[in-house]
Amino acid sequence: MALERTLSIIKPDAVAKNVIGQITSRFEAAGLKVVAAKLVRLSRAEAEQFYDVHRARPFFKDLVDFMVSGPVMIQVLEGEGAIAKNRDLMGATDPKKAAAGTIRADFADSIDANAVHGSDGPETAAAEVAFFFAGLNVYTR
Ligand code: PPS
Repeated sequence: MALERTLSIIKPDAVAKNVIGQITSRFEAAGLKVVAAKLVRLSRAEAEQFYDVHRARPFFKDLVDFMVSGPVMIQVLEGEGAIAKNRDLMGATDPKKAAAGTIRADFADSIDANAVHGSDGPETAAAEVAFFFAGLNVYTR
């Protein structure tokens, strides 16, 4: 398996629940390292640009409204097979369908407020990491 980096966002609902540490512990326990991190409040323009691929979807406005509703914890996770590993840890988009023991099953309330975002493939991961952490060094820790 290749050493990869992926973008994780702990969304406003999970930040409001004060579970940044509990979620990050799951990444670490699975062998993923946090190599960059920032707690920020996204602007509407940033959120719209980040989710541009979903602009035509009926839920786009709700998704952007939610993502700007409070601070988010944005992290770059590094490890063997980090992209798929993070997706496995997250569970399905809809927490009602997420497998037991996944982050969304344990911390998310609904498909709108679903606790975490994770890049879904190598190209998206590279673009999303660059979007929030332009110029991130090859080795940061
Ligand atoms: S897809 O088709 O696989 O790209 O779609 P999916 O990954 O399921 O969803 C893309 C992002 O949109 C969010 N989403 C929603 N937000 C609000 N309301 C509804 N109904 C809804 N359905 C999907 C979903 O959480 C994804 O956000 P991220 O941040 O990528 O997890």
